[in-house]
Amino acid sequence: MKAPEEGAPGAPPYQLRWLDRLEPEHAKRYLELYLRVLERDSTVGFAGPFDEATGQNIVRHLDAELRARRAHLLVAEAGERFLFQATCIQSGAPNNRHMATVYRAMVDPSERGQGLMWRTLPAFISKFRELGVDVVTLDVREGSPAEQVWRHMGFKPYGVLPDYARVHGKSYAGVYMYMTTPELVEIVRKRNLL
Ligand SMILES: CC(C)(COP(=O)(O)OP(=O)(O)OC[C@H]1O[C@@H](n2cnc3c(N)ncnc32)[C@H](O)[C@@H]1OP(=O)(O)O)[C@@H](O)C(=O)NCCC(=O)NCCS
Repeated sequence: MKAPEEGAPGAPPYQLRWLDRLEPEHAKRYLELYLRVLERDSTVGFAGPFDEATGQNIVRHLDAELRARRAHLLVAEAGERFLFQATCIQSGAPNNRHMATVYRAMVDPSERGQGLMWRTLPAFISKFRELGVDVVTLDVREGSPAEQVWRHMGFKPYGVLPDYARVHGKSYAGVYMYMTTPELVEIVRKRNLL
């Protein structure tokens, strides 16, 4: 059985969309979700909430990368809030264009544990196919819930980097993981999401 179409009965109360630029309202929602996550997690680049100027730098840089098509932003939009966001960056070198990395993936703390991550996977597969991406990588702090989630979803570790992150004076290792797009398709099919 396939997942219900957006808007259909039983469909989740959000819409998954790829953004190719950040209009001011998107930038606002992006930063609001990022800050809600940083209130609770220190695993997405910052040890805690950032200030207004830092936030504006983040969205200015992201907008430029999106417009240049060097980055692609997937969001789950519910009214005026993003409940999920993640950036996909395709490798720029001709020899490596078949690879992309997913970073700054985050789910609103109030929406966690409801399978939202699974429901994003068909959208990722569409984007990977469009871009010709066959190998997907990501990196995550060792021992974090996110590491467990990615492993559970089928990502395989290919290396551990000591001193990957430094948070409040403590050093943490990072786990580098990958999955091929065909493997991702297989996993999503088994879950009846495609
Ligand atoms: C990582 C994160 C995105 C996961 O979001 P989530 O909403 O909890 O994920 P889901 O509910 O869709 O869970 C996906 C699967 O992982 C499983 N899972 C969740 N937490 C788990 C854990 N700690 N250990 C093992 N499996 C776990 C879920 O049970 C689910 O699988 P199932 O349907 O087979 O039961 C979210 O915790 C988050 O935003 N964390 C903070 C930001 C962050 O660290 N991002 C990672 C940067 S790479």
